Amino acid sequence: MADPKKLFIKTYGCQMNVYDSERMAEALGASGYVTTDRADEADMILLNTCHIREKAAEKVYSELGRFKPLKAANPDLKIGVAGCVAQAEGEEIMRRQPMVDLVVGPQTYHRLPAMEAAVRAGQRAVDTDFPAEDKFEHLPKAPRAKRAPAAFLTVQEGCDKFCAFCVVPYTRGAEVSRPVDRVLREARDLVDRGVREITLLGQNVNAYHGAGDGGTWGLARLIRELAKIDGLERIRFTTSHPNDMEEDLIAAHGDEPKLMPYLHLPVQSGSDKILKAMARKHTAESYIRLIERLRAARPDLLLSGDFIVGFPGETDQDFEDTMTLVRTVSYGQAYSFKYSARPGTPAAEKTPVPDDVASDRLQRLQGLLTEQQRAAQEAMVGRDVSVLFEKPGRLPGQMVGKSDYLHAVHVTDPRAEVGQIARVRIKASGPNSLAGELV
Ligand code: SAH
Ligand code: SF4
Ligand code: F3S
Repeated sequence: MADPKKLFIKTYGCQMNVYDSERMAEALGASGYVTTDRADEADMILLNTCHIREKAAEKVYSELGRFKPLKAANPDLKIGVAGCVAQAEGEEIMRRQPMVDLVVGPQTYHRLPAMEAAVRAGQRAVDTDFPAEDKFEHLPKAPRAKRAPAAFLTVQEGCDKFCAFCVVPYTRGAEVSRPVDRVLREARDLVDRGVREITLLGQNVNAYHGAGDGGTWGLARLIRELAKIDGLERIRFTTSHPNDMEEDLIAAHGDEPKLMPYLHLPVQSGSDKILKAMARKHTAESYIRLIERLRAARPDLLLSGDFIVGFPGETDQDFEDTMTLVRTVSYGQAYSFKYSARPGTPAAEKTPVPDDVASDRLQRLQGLLTEQQRAAQEAMVGRDVSVLFEKPGRLPGQMVGKSDYLHAVHVTDPRAEVGQIARVRIKASGPNSLAGELV
């Protein structure tokens, strides 16, 4: 038998791309590929790309440039671009980088086996359709290999919100929820293969409205049903929009023990004027009220968020409003970005804030967020938390896992095993992780 062909996938962007990369590897597995973590021994290189900010997209082109010598050394090497840059740029990628053989968007990767065959036959393949069929139902059957203890599961995809700065509605398409029975089937299959924690994914995951028994189910009902699966111990979901936080989902944070006390809830800005210009359709005040309701349901909820500074029209006062909101909410963890004008979005037409002003604001905001993150970590020292061990650490005998609050936790103990959920007493807080001992 011929050696299997080797596939190297590099993933950029959000967790949905991580999930998609796994599905693409499985789809190409059916065409005889095994994955490798070495680009220089690959028969196919796939970049699964992100278009959210300018830098993310530019990285793709510089990365492609780096593969030139590999292609020169191995003329049979095929290079593909997948994901959101593929969707946004399509054939343009091949014009800018003629060595690219294949371009596939986020909604057509179930067609990869046929595209791969075309590429092997010397053609170039581009597919950035938004097809009528459900890609999840048309993916080749995955080999039923054992899985790592924590997994992603896409339940909702696309976005209809059209925030003025954002490319996602254009690259991922309209909001679609997967039917309840398909989600449950995939979750049970994951648990059978060793998974103990599932993170439900969607660009607006809390807008989930899947067809289920007796009508349409929201995310809370889906979570409550998933929680009944024996062996599934932890459930998370990301990313949420403040306007889709239904009452039952707030309640679930208080009464569903398998739902973890961590919530990523982006707000982007603390200024109502900027929120309006961003077309976020919520105010700073309504966001803060929502946080209060969530904390009333689950007082130890750890909050995470996303922020954009330097959105067109942002004044010093608008930025101070963001700082005030951050102080009011107090985040356990957060992401902040300098606004990046994205072609085709409404905000891209507006006059930008000077770059040095935006950089200054970003630095100040990140300073505050880092301080809050440290404080939240420090507050864990001395506490007992539950940790799901995911993999061995770098030091001998060390195990790394995630606490219920999503902190990385290191434990050095021969009794700690991958896939185990254990009580851990936190002893120390480092820059990006905690260290503890089995209780
Ligand atoms: N669906 C998620 C966000 C997906 S994009 C949500 O609505 O919350 C992830 C984050 O990237 C956003 O929350 C935003 O903070 C940031 N982002 C999106 N577009 C951006 C842009 N044009 N410039 C800078 N940051 C951006
Ligand atoms: Fe982008 Fe807004 Fe949709 Fe989030 S809700 S994906 S920020 S358009
Ligand atoms: Fe990036 Fe696309 Fe995700 S633009 S953030 S990879 S949805």
